[in-house]
Amino acid sequence: TAAELDSRIRAAKRTLGDRAVVLGHFYQRDEVVQYADFVGDSFQLARAARAKPDAEAIVFCGVHFMAETADLLSGDEQSVILPNLAAGCSMADMANIDQVEQCWQELDDALGAGPDADGLAPVIPVTYMNSSAALKGFCGRHGGIVCTSSNARTVLDWAFERGRRVLFFPDQHLGRNTAKAMGVPEERMPLWMPNKPLGGMTPEQLRDAQVILWNGFCSVHKRFTVRQIEKARETFPNVRVIVHPECPMPVVDAADESGSTDYITKAIAAAPAGTTFAIGTEINLVNRLASENPQHTIFCLDPVVCPCSTMYRIHPGYLAWVLESLVRGRVINQISVGDDVAIPATRALERMLATTP
Ligand code: 13P
Ligand code: SF4
Repeated sequence: TAAELDSRIRAAKRTLGDRAVVLGHFYQRDEVVQYADFVGDSFQLARAARAKPDAEAIVFCGVHFMAETADLLSGDEQSVILPNLAAGCSMADMANIDQVEQCWQELDDALGAGPDADGLAPVIPVTYMNSSAALKGFCGRHGGIVCTSSNARTVLDWAFERGRRVLFFPDQHLGRNTAKAMGVPEERMPLWMPNKPLGGMTPEQLRDAQVILWNGFCSVHKRFTVRQIEKARETFPNVRVIVHPECPMPVVDAADESGSTDYITKAIAAAPAGTTFAIGTEINLVNRLASENPQHTIFCLDPVVCPCSTMYRIHPGYLAWVLESLVRGRVINQISVGDDVAIPATRALERMLATTP
């Protein structure tokens, strides 16, 4: 039962003390978030992975790419545990290393590899945090960098100081929304379709591109529509609409604001009491924000519940299992990135950390 699991998790955490730290992403369900020592967005959790260097284990309540990142940034002696190994991310799976290597080869053939007269590389690869360690390693090997939804603009500025173009993967929407806000015209952000020659674009489109967008997306955020925003405004004329930048561009354009899960959380906390918010992001976070902020009216733009099904795979039962195993001295469901990938991937992450205040 829930009560039994609760006492088992609390007892295991008590016994482990500082030996284990539990990190939780904002999209985790409340039943899991209550046990997290730290809750945050992807960027904050990457930093948090370094905050307890003396803990033997980091138990990551989130998805696979986040646990990989924690392994890359934490100490060599620390183990990172993902309570359910089936907690992946469909967006991260939309770009694999073979497709990206193939794309890079084609870009190389079409644009050349060396810098131009201004010392700018033809293309700088930028991967969204929501990608495998292999792709972060790819960026590390090719002068590229990692970004999250909270620092994408800063990171793109960094990349444009070094290259004529950016190859942005896997999330086309975060790439498009960020580049648009920076003034990049839409016709200079062609979409790379991984299984088509030259990504399905003409040599001219490629030559004129400023941001080459990979054809990936988040199936949760893709559900939000402009019609939902219009309806919210019809019902609540003063509503403040905030969406995550993984939403399609027309949705971000129709919203009042867009930002990472941490941005949304802070914007709600800072608003004058009595504000009505329509939020376009994962439902577990929206529901928690609604219950933690009774001074406001907060609802999800999508009337049909839209959880991230893979985040939801972290159940308290798995958390109890991995914590009790740790008590018995056993590390299970460990996420460990091999050195060949870890060294360049960490380089790309370090560039991001150094770029972001
Ligand atoms: P942030 O926590 O960086 O806003 O990212 C949202 C997300 O989709 C994580 O998977
Ligand atoms: Fe991946 Fe979307 Fe879930 Fe985030 S919300 S983990 S991007 S599927």
